[in-house]
Amino acid sequence: MRHFLNINAIELDDVLDLVHRALAIKAGRSVIQSNLTVTNLFFENSTRTHSSFQMAENRLGYQQIDIDPQQSSMSKGESLTDTLKTLKAIGVDVAVIRHTVNNWYDQVLTATGHEIPHLINAGDGSGQHPSQSLLDLVTIYEQFNHFAGLNIRIVGDLAHSRVARSNAEILHHLGANMTFSGPKDWQPNDFGKFGQFVAIDDDWENLDVVIFLRVQHERITQTENQNFSTKQYHEQFGLNRARYERLKAAAIIMHPAPVNRDVEIADELVEAPKSRIFEQMNNGVYARMAILEYTTEATYATH
Ligand code: CP
Repeated sequence: MRHFLNINAIELDDVLDLVHRALAIKAGRSVIQSNLTVTNLFFENSTRTHSSFQMAENRLGYQQIDIDPQQSSMSKGESLTDTLKTLKAIGVDVAVIRHTVNNWYDQVLTATGHEIPHLINAGDGSGQHPSQSLLDLVTIYEQFNHFAGLNIRIVGDLAHSRVARSNAEILHHLGANMTFSGPKDWQPNDFGKFGQFVAIDDDWENLDVVIFLRVQHERITQTENQNFSTKQYHEQFGLNRARYERLKAAAIIMHPAPVNRDVEIADELVEAPKSRIFEQMNNGVYARMAILEYTTEATYATH
């Protein structure tokens, strides 16, 4: 049974197929209406991922059962695995899950006994965010038509960002030249496998894509939060007018959002011409339609 849990565990050809599928749907490729049922199970707050999965499901004709984990029997101690077996028994085909725990799916996949729905990871703790990663790939490919040789920098809270973790690895495997900048305390050692840590302004004029990351106040320690200065962070690691102007004309700026305006990106630059932040959100719907087709191995219309 196919799941969509970690974009870096998928064959590169399949990743590229997903990018092309999403762009084909965006360009107007017709979709076959599904008779499947999906549940969206969000243990963490979300605006973009939750609503764009709902939109993607609506456009593909899915029946939706939205479950609030707080209102479910998980609040009485039922495990996620038993919840998923229950939902499958009731007739749910696909479960889209955002969870606070990294790799929440490992335990579910090792459980035996009954079937579970197709699983789609909508973000696990500080682990992976594969659907965000796909929509980021779609946005980059839409701009450049390739990944190999692009100079891509990810800036900010690398340690706590599942977006950074997913993107650093997949973009490296797709041939992009990855570099990373951010506060020293938020530089995970394992990112060295995918690229170099550099000063933010290093080789700035040659960058094609700069991905800024949200400072994840909910995942950093109380001491880090107490010592955090918005002004200082913005000066050191934020996108200001001077940095914006130094980027080449064809360069693009991305951010998974929500954006802390005037922290990662100056308020006036969030909607600037080089920014693709709202296009990323738009592409999220097409990326998630492609993910639903891929995961359920749905046949799709080619015209
Ligand atoms: N980018 C992202 O995952 O946003 P949400 O938390 O609003 O889904």
